[in-house]
Amino acid sequence: MKKEKILVVGNWKMNPETANKAKEIFRGIKAETKDLKNTKIVVCPPFVYLSDLEKMNDGSVILGAQDMFWEKSGPFTGEISAQMLEKEGYVILGHSERRGLGETDEMVSKKVISAIKAHLHPILCLGEKIRDEHGEYLHFLRNQIINSLGKLPKTYLSKLVIAYEPIWAIGQAEAMKPADIHETSLFIKKVLAEIYKQKTILSIPVLYGGSVSADNAKEIITLGEVQGLLVGRESLAPKKFGELLKAVEIL
Ligand code: 13P
Repeated sequence: MKKEKILVVGNWKMNPETANKAKEIFRGIKAETKDLKNTKIVVCPPFVYLSDLEKMNDGSVILGAQDMFWEKSGPFTGEISAQMLEKEGYVILGHSERRGLGETDEMVSKKVISAIKAHLHPILCLGEKIRDEHGEYLHFLRNQIINSLGKLPKTYLSKLVIAYEPIWAIGQAEAMKPADIHETSLFIKKVLAEIYKQKTILSIPVLYGGSVSADNAKEIITLGEVQGLLVGRESLAPKKFGELLKAVEIL
């Protein structure tokens, strides 16, 4: 069986401040990634930089989006539809920073379904705010998974990517421990199996995000047993991002 590539997604969030800087970072990332063969790299800049970066792209990096709306077009000021994005591309949905601004599980589920209908790969973000000793976070996660998938049909699962990003581990000095990442990614797959009762859920990639760096990337993949990474800060620094990718590439 063909080994799936490790998926590394860079989420630039609302950075950098100028188009020129965005091009410089992207140029740097492309230089760092040109010899990589076992890693699939997706970079998600702010919408306004997408077309400039697309012009510079030679296909070594896939450009993705950080959000989209569920309607195709119409009176939705400020929104962008799935149809406006590149087909077969990736889109981050339900990031905790958007959920923090009021995005609900129901809104996220509509976005996931619209993205797949428009031939995109949604990267559905999930994650608890805190880890309590009594395991309440597991109930929270279970509900978040069920409600964020909503009525997503089984036939859509082949396009789905899940990113587990515990909020408490984002923007920190250290990531979550690989053993805990492993346990939680198994829990996510268990809940998916309960919902869909299908073996195919095993092939849904689960990524980990939250303070991933060149130093911890390899052990998160090997010991955490996840199929990829969602990277914030380090994806804006080409040299560090390059080191991270090389660490993952030689697994
Ligand atoms: P950091 O890698 O900066 O912790 O950000 C994680 C994140 O939120 C990626 O979506």
